[in-house]
Amino acid sequence: MFVREAFWLILARQPSDTELRDQLRNYTPGDERTVVLRFLSSPEFRLVRDGWATGRGIDKAPAVHEEGLGTLGSDERFVRLAYTWLFDRDADEGGLTHYVGELSAGLSRVNLTRRFVLSDEFTRRYQEISPEGGLIPRDVQLCELANPAKWDNPEWMDLLRSLVLPDHKIAMHRKAYEFTQLAFGLSRLGYLRDDVSVVSVGAGHECVLYWLANHVGRVVATDMYEGVWQSEMAQEGDAKVLKRPEDYAPFPYRADRLSFFRMDGRKLDFPDATFDVAYSLSSIEHFGGLDGARDAVDEMARVVRPGGVIAVATEYILSNAPYHEAFLPVQIHTLFDRPGLRLVEPIDERVCDRYHYAAVDLQKNRHQTPHMVVRDGDTVFTSVMAFLTKEMGQ
Ligand SMILES: C[S@@+](CC[C@H](N)C(=O)[O-])C[C@H]1O[C@@H](n2cnc3c(N)ncnc32)[C@H](O)[C@@H]1O
Repeated sequence: MFVREAFWLILARQPSDTELRDQLRNYTPGDERTVVLRFLSSPEFRLVRDGWATGRGIDKAPAVHEEGLGTLGSDERFVRLAYTWLFDRDADEGGLTHYVGELSAGLSRVNLTRRFVLSDEFTRRYQEISPEGGLIPRDVQLCELANPAKWDNPEWMDLLRSLVLPDHKIAMHRKAYEFTQLAFGLSRLGYLRDDVSVVSVGAGHECVLYWLANHVGRVVATDMYEGVWQSEMAQEGDAKVLKRPEDYAPFPYRADRLSFFRMDGRKLDFPDATFDVAYSLSSIEHFGGLDGARDAVDEMARVVRPGGVIAVATEYILSNAPYHEAFLPVQIHTLFDRPGLRLVEPIDERVCDRYHYAAVDLQKNRHQTPHMVVRDGDTVFTSVMAFLTKEMGQ
């Protein structure tokens, strides 16, 4: 009887014959608290609670559920059992009188159970007995190659959606990865605050500038805004953004927080230690080979205060053949191995080995998605993302 009753009160259903057999196999009277704890720790109860907490409801017919709870005896016995099993204590006289009164005045047993399960007292207990319950392991690396696993991290996906980027996995794209990973990294490193200033190098009119304007104190976009970038590809270097930034905003933003400047990323026109964060996404590979990219990293490091963060996404060659405007792994390491800079964690360079994919052939159709690994002739490449800190005293 106890097992049946605990099924109804905690899991909102009756047990199957097999479940009853299995629960009773090692059961001895006095084990009730252990059994209840097991039920409360189950994924099934997690889903019941989530269903009530979110207002989605639970997948049980209310009349059948109410009838099942009706088998637990008198109203007084029902309330006492709810206290014992859900709050792990005896009912106090005040509570008992109150809830028995509510039941006789028409409150259903389903609603009383729901109220108990959502109460502050039960929430505190549940947090203690099941702190990690319901948390699905998720990928949280910051320094890595463009990583499809991030599409399975709900926190990361919330950021992607807040950037108004397409969220279906078949739309997976390196650009969306870079923007979202930047927001994710700055969030995890504690840099989304109103007292934080950020500079972007080779910024174009990237959407994450506008997003950052809503999440930090000051954002400065720098770019040459000249040459082929004004007319070719996605026209990232369109100079019109200097005069009318609002025309490129993907969503409402705090215009007073964001300014645009024409500037060479290899020679930034700011004093040392001006910003808390400097970043550059898919740009430094266009600054004149490894030397140009290295100059840009050094400039980012110069204008960031000691203890600040530098975030860089650039092209990473997977196929081991040199290529213009992309870097071999060994070059990537020299790029980030600069005096006074330290990667916040080692770069995970094995990401692509873990996935089955066909590289998007840029010569045939560069618009194809998923678009995480690409091919140009014999060269296969992807994005690498790195977060570095500028050491104190530098
Ligand atoms: C591929 S786009 C990327 C733009 C933007 N970061 C994004 O992700 O959409 C490369 C950008 O680098 C800029 N650029 C090229 N050489 C530069 C330099 N020496 N200094 C600053 N920006 C430069 C181009 O104008 C262009 O906007």
